[in-house]
Amino acid sequence: MKLPFAEPYKIKVVESIRRSSREERRKWIGDAHYNLFQLHSEHVFIDLLTDSGTGAMSDQQWGAMMTGDESYAGSSSYYKLKDTIEEITGFDYFLPTHQGRAAENVLFSVLVNEGDIVPGNSHFDTTKGHIEFRRAITNDCTIDEAFDTTLIHPFKGNVNTEKLEKVLQEYGDKVPFIILTLTNNSAGGQPVSLKNMHDVRKLADKYNKPVLFDSARFAENAYFIKIREPEYRDRTIREIVHEMFSCADMMTMSSKKDAIVNMGGFIAMRDPELFRQCSVFNIMFEGYITYGGMSGRDMNALAQGLNEGIDFDFLETRINQVEYLGQQLLDFGIPIQQPIGGHAIFIDAKRFFPHIPKEEFPAQTLANLLYIEGGVRGVEIGTLVADRDPVTRENRYPALEFVRLAIPRRVYTNNHMDVVVAALKNVYDNREEIKTGLRITREAPIMRHFTVEMELA
Ligand code: F0G
Repeated sequence: MKLPFAEPYKIKVVESIRRSSREERRKWIGDAHYNLFQLHSEHVFIDLLTDSGTGAMSDQQWGAMMTGDESYAGSSSYYKLKDTIEEITGFDYFLPTHQGRAAENVLFSVLVNEGDIVPGNSHFDTTKGHIEFRRAITNDCTIDEAFDTTLIHPFKGNVNTEKLEKVLQEYGDKVPFIILTLTNNSAGGQPVSLKNMHDVRKLADKYNKPVLFDSARFAENAYFIKIREPEYRDRTIREIVHEMFSCADMMTMSSKKDAIVNMGGFIAMRDPELFRQCSVFNIMFEGYITYGGMSGRDMNALAQGLNEGIDFDFLETRINQVEYLGQQLLDFGIPIQQPIGGHAIFIDAKRFFPHIPKEEFPAQTLANLLYIEGGVRGVEIGTLVADRDPVTRENRYPALEFVRLAIPRRVYTNNHMDVVVAALKNVYDNREEIKTGLRITREAPIMRHFTVEMELA
């Protein structure tokens, strides 16, 4: 008999979570203006809002925290982290930041100017925010296959190199760099193939442009390369990661994802001149270059977490848990982005609620109903996140309207996944009784989804 699959760790510390009633949840979500970001976390039973900063650190990481060096300048924790980053990514220079968007802020302060065009594969919302804030724009060159959730393609995170070349030809000097987001979060935690990375590198060389990797989930991307790209089947995750980063000139990292820490980020690069320019902004916005928004103990935990995050057994368990959840939803006919991604299930709200008009935020409506049904908190990645066009101020309606159920690393068991499945099935079975969605009563001028207030339409 084949031995069943199990986590390569056991539980040493637990944190209590509390069940609640539907009546309580209806009140709480109303008080939160139908915005799940505004809920108190103790009113959530299973929190799948994000996999960012919500992972469980290991005993080795907690142990490393005790030996953090809190010197303002030149701490041993900084050098330990520097060596780890260099060993894993091959980048010689690095700057710590307090999280991923801070890395974007520092790097884009050097590289992005008004009127620029930044092409890539579905820029994450903070990336897009930091580009648009500088009066530049993004250009999404993701392959068309990514926008049909029923279509099976092993690398839906890929860039369409013809689209990319067209942008490079058309806008020339206005393109400061090409960005690849690994994995492509907005398209459903979908990986980019190594072949695509090499193809992008070739185009970048042809047009003399640097390549930036937004590397938040680089290890999950490497796992998919090993599993789905036949030439890399026999390579270790470490070898694949090395080859991936050989295609880039620089990276931004939100360490809160694949490096399994609760806070932290960094920028890494090959070019010493870029490092010097970024250092100025890092000192202004984040902190001195050997801590940049992180304490010594946090840098120690991050160095350890980077190594744990690229462990094959860990990655296999984690991605199989996401698959376990997704496969049950598929068995019930619930429409999700396929193939199932690395860190989350993305429910296709347009197919779930075809009768709710896009103006009434079907994905946000679904996220609300799932919370009321099971105390499960997901997040809208659709029209709210797509925000308004910076020029016309009209709502942008993205091709995909998702509810994302992001699975924190090493936190929930498959029993929790079973609760999510049952709650979502109940909402799905009653979907025709839901006639209307939501409308906005108050919103911020940029990144509105965090603070938006809504009412029943
Ligand atoms: N890039 C990607 C691909 C991300 O998913 C995120 C954050 C960031 C950059 C920014 O990093 O949060 O550390 O400032 N994603 C989180 C999420 C928030 O829920 O997907 P940060």
